[in-house]
Amino acid sequence: MKPKLKLGKVEIRKSRMSDATAISKILDDDRVVNNLTDIPSPYTLRCAKKDIENSLKYWKQKKGYAFTIIYDSVVVGQVFLEDPARGMKAYSIGYYIAYDYWGRGIATNAAKLAVKYGFNSLGLKKIWGDNDSDMSASGRVMEKAGFKQEGLMKKQVYRKTSKGKEKYVDLVIWGKINR
Ligand SMILES: CC(C)(COP(=O)(O)OP(=O)(O)OC[C@H]1O[C@@H](n2cnc3c(N)ncnc32)[C@H](O)[C@@H]1OP(=O)(O)O)[C@@H](O)C(=O)NCCC(=O)NCCS
Repeated sequence: MKPKLKLGKVEIRKSRMSDATAISKILDDDRVVNNLTDIPSPYTLRCAKKDIENSLKYWKQKKGYAFTIIYDSVVVGQVFLEDPARGMKAYSIGYYIAYDYWGRGIATNAAKLAVKYGFNSLGLKKIWGDNDSDMSASGRVMEKAGFKQEGLMKKQVYRKTSKGKEKYVDLVIWGKINR
């Protein structure tokens, strides 16, 4: 199946090298990456190209699926299905949206589309995700995409605050089962 999926004005498709410029601009923004893990700063075009190159490799190896999110013909983010459970049919979901496009329901629709692809095209049994407890928008995205809260891991993630201080944040765990 060609991975092209659409819901309202939101479309997701397999990420490609020509997305690199747009992605590098979106991720070179502290407001977007503050709650994400392992994103280099500054996030350059070279970083984006390397990440896309890896994601294309993972796609081929069936280890992970990186989709670019398009809204009204503009590249506005990515959504990922990844296989940290090593061959199990439970994949994790993750996503980010360009700051200027927050609050338009884009991540919710993109998550729904990724779930549809995961269940219908990849035959997954479960998709799970997590959010920092102080990033409730991300949890709300999963809730609206039909995920149920499964747990709370106390002080699970380490983040730097905008003032350069350190903090430990609780992690909320969500899951959606393919019934
Ligand atoms: C989390 C993120 C993807 C949400 O994207 P989005 O396209 O703005 O999400 P949606 O428009 O689909 O909104 C989702 C819900 O979160 C709510 N929301 C948006 N911003 C919020 C905020 N700052 N605080 C609390 N809730 C918020 C929305 O109101 C909406 O809920 P509602 O429909 O009940 O009103 C986006 O903020 C982002 O990229 N954040 C940085 C990266 C990140 O944290 N990714 C998640 C890691 S898995």
